[in-house]
Amino acid sequence: MDKDNRGRMTRDGIRIYEDADFKGMHKAGALAADILDRIAEHVFPGQTTSEIDRQIEDWVNEAGATSATIGYKGYRHASCISVNHVVCHGIPGAKVLKAGDILNIDVTVIVDGWFGDTSRMYAAGALSRKAERLIQITHDSLMKGIEAVKPGNTFGDIGHAIQSYVEAQRMSVVRDFCGHGLGRVFHAPPNVLHYGRPGTGPVLEEGMFFTIEPMVNLGRPETKVLADDWTAVTRDKSLSAQFEHSVGVRADGAEIFTLSPAGLFYPTSAQD
Ligand code: MF3
Ligand code: CO
Ligand code: CO
Repeated sequence: MDKDNRGRMTRDGIRIYEDADFKGMHKAGALAADILDRIAEHVFPGQTTSEIDRQIEDWVNEAGATSATIGYKGYRHASCISVNHVVCHGIPGAKVLKAGDILNIDVTVIVDGWFGDTSRMYAAGALSRKAERLIQITHDSLMKGIEAVKPGNTFGDIGHAIQSYVEAQRMSVVRDFCGHGLGRVFHAPPNVLHYGRPGTGPVLEEGMFFTIEPMVNLGRPETKVLADDWTAVTRDKSLSAQFEHSVGVRADGAEIFTLSPAGLFYPTSAQD
């Protein structure tokens, strides 16, 4: 069901939004990013991931917004919290964070019908050198992807920018999950791959809205989904990191909807 009938659609089925629609995306993106700012001080050794999620759900409700993930395909939480070798879709629960754990917190909110989807990395306690490097490379790979966003470039250019940067650092890009179009729906065309060849894939046009959300592993790229049918982990149990922004295409490049109001997107908010 396509709840979205604004603007026009490209041959690849990608919706082109109008200038006024950027405002709605900024409002939704800013709330999601502000929640990720505020949650930083709730991440510490001894904390449970369910308590972090409960706090996020409270803030979504307080803002008069809606969580996009609660009720999505039967999911019951306001965030995904992916710890250490969990690649994505970690389910908040009784798990207690311990010093040295790294985690991705992914929040998607709906404000006035617009979706804001963003995630970033946090650390409980001090970071190991290799975790710190993984997080830095993953963050920078997202930014390389975002730099490749401009009309006339292709989605393959975005994937290539991410993949070539990550692999030059001898880390690997997850293939099994990708970014996605969004707007007045959560997941829409295209699949935004975080690997690829320059010049391939759909051509970017002004007015496209989508996420870029590379997952990077210290070891091999393969993942598997746990028996809960939800949680994705690295097959080789190596550490994994992810950062996600929602962006819109402007004539001169990407406009980021999910910038951190407090400037905390990176560096990660480690607490000692
Ligand atoms: N926010 C995730 C994304 O980046 C999707 C989470 S769906 C959930 O696309 F149901 F697992 F929450
Ligand atoms: Co997303
Ligand atoms: Co997300």
